[in-house]
Amino acid sequence: MAHHYHPIAIWLHWLMAIMLAIVCLSMEFISLYPKGSSGRTLMLSTHYLLGLVIVILAFVRLWFWWRSKPVENPDQGPMQKYIARAVFILLYGLMITLPIVGWVDIGLWDVSVSAFGWQLPQIASPDSVMAEELSQVHILMAKTGYGLVGLHGTAALYHHFILKDATLKRMLPRFRQRLS
Ligand code: HEM
Ligand code: HEM
Repeated sequence: MAHHYHPIAIWLHWLMAIMLAIVCLSMEFISLYPKGSSGRTLMLSTHYLLGLVIVILAFVRLWFWWRSKPVENPDQGPMQKYIARAVFILLYGLMITLPIVGWVDIGLWDVSVSAFGWQLPQIASPDSVMAEELSQVHILMAKTGYGLVGLHGTAALYHHFILKDATLKRMLPRFRQRLS
């Protein structure tokens, strides 16, 4: 069992954290753009398409996690290990199901999405009542994600700055590990 994460798992972790931030910000600040404006269309397409790329990358990442079988963290007690594992499972669950719920939702809203001449398949038939309900589910899942990421990030910073152990360093690219 390796002590560090696979380099690709590390890069995917931080790349996906940035992508998730963009996906969330694109919807949180959508009201800055008037309906029908090209800015609003860009924000929506970014949200939908980048959101779906996250599902694919989550599977790639799971594959690397499974291949390199990381990582016994010697700096975590049994209780912390249990909580960290539960949070990781929930985060992966959200990275995979949240965008798919969104995809079904835009089908129910009868929204079509295209980019570079390619059309995203519509995977649900229009139904505005169901659409409203599924939007609420999507939003609730997203807010749960905010809480979990907050908990997860705070725990990582607590390990680094207060406990001063190697938990965060294990998830930093190798050149950062050498510097610190
Ligand atoms: C991991 C990826 C995703 C995250 C973190 C995410 C998060 C969010 C957030 C934070 C909102 C705004 C909630 C609010 O109003 O405060 C939202 C709204 C929405 N998202 Fe996503 N989303 C993701 C992927 C997707 C995908 C892939 C689609 C569709 C293909 C999608 C469709 C929608 C729609 C239609 C809304 C508007 C719901 C409404 O207000 O009626 N989302 N999402
Ligand atoms: C959108 C944001 C984030 C998501 C979805 C996320 C998700 C995950 C997941 C699923 C893992 C398990 C390992 C893996 O499969 O790659 C992990 C590990 C880790 N994450 Fe995050 N993470 C996010 C943001 C952050 C932030 C902001 C920090 C630091 C402040 C952080 C620090 C860490 C550390 C240190 C580990 C390794 C923990 C250990 O070795 O036990 N993550 N993250």
